[in-house]
Amino acid sequence: MALKTKVISLCLLATLLVTMVTAVWPAFPSQSGIGNAPLGASMGSMMSAGRTGRSSGRGRASKGEVSDSCTCLHELQMVEARGRDNSDRLDKLQEEVSSMYGAISTLKSALNAVQGGGKSGNRIAPQAYNIAFSARVGYNRPYLGETEVVVFDELVINNGDVYDPYSGKFTSPVPGLYEFQTTILSGFNSTIETMMVMNGNEVSRMFSGGFNTRGSGSNAVLLNMDQGDEVWVSVFYGNGDYVHGQWSTFSGHLVQAYTV
Ligand SMILES: *[C@@H]1O[C@H](CO)[C@@H](O)[C@H](O)[C@H]1NC(C)=O
Repeated sequence: MALKTKVISLCLLATLLVTMVTAVWPAFPSQSGIGNAPLGASMGSMMSAGRTGRSSGRGRASKGEVSDSCTCLHELQMVEARGRDNSDRLDKLQEEVSSMYGAISTLKSALNAVQGGGKSGNRIAPQAYNIAFSARVGYNRPYLGETEVVVFDELVINNGDVYDPYSGKFTSPVPGLYEFQTTILSGFNSTIETMMVMNGNEVSRMFSGGFNTRGSGSNAVLLNMDQGDEVWVSVFYGNGDYVHGQWSTFSGHLVQAYTV
């Protein structure tokens, strides 16, 4: 429909031009022969009628009118051919676009599958975070009570300011998969049992001790954490009371953030 409107507009413009030219140039050369294209023919007769109405007042000869129509017909046929060509190209483009949509949809599914690991419903975020801490106990802790927090008061690194060396607690700044490691060295000829805790729930245990010596115990844990979740190390229920300074460490880092 748009093409037809364009063709009609072009045709009217051409008619106007021809009328103007023939008005100032009475000796406009005549041509013979009319094109056979159906659209061209019908449009040509339309134009011819329109032009006749306008030019009849000036007393133009009917032979000149036929020649004008022929010129316009040729233009029309060219426009029509070009329109058909453009239409074909548009169809081809539409096919390509829809095939690209298909490919994008496939890629999206594959990406979701890759990102779907970890906590159910959570997807891996594309942002790169620098979240990591490492701390150690600065001095011996001989009188730790049951479930008392072991405070690793000497910071080694604290990227993202995620670990509090006063409370001994790590707080998750973004939802994600986190890894923590702890090593606890016992006092001489004694034992201590400790645990890693998330939000008050034990997530791993460590035994440290030795007969006539010291002994270290360590463990690591991977945790899916929400923002604001906390992890710390504490004495296990009722066992041991001595953590050796300098040799005991607590570290953690974000493995991969999740989107919220
Ligand atoms: C270690 O502890 C055991 C058991 O309490 C004790 O018999 C031993 O004498 C201690 N060793 C030293 C060097 O104190």
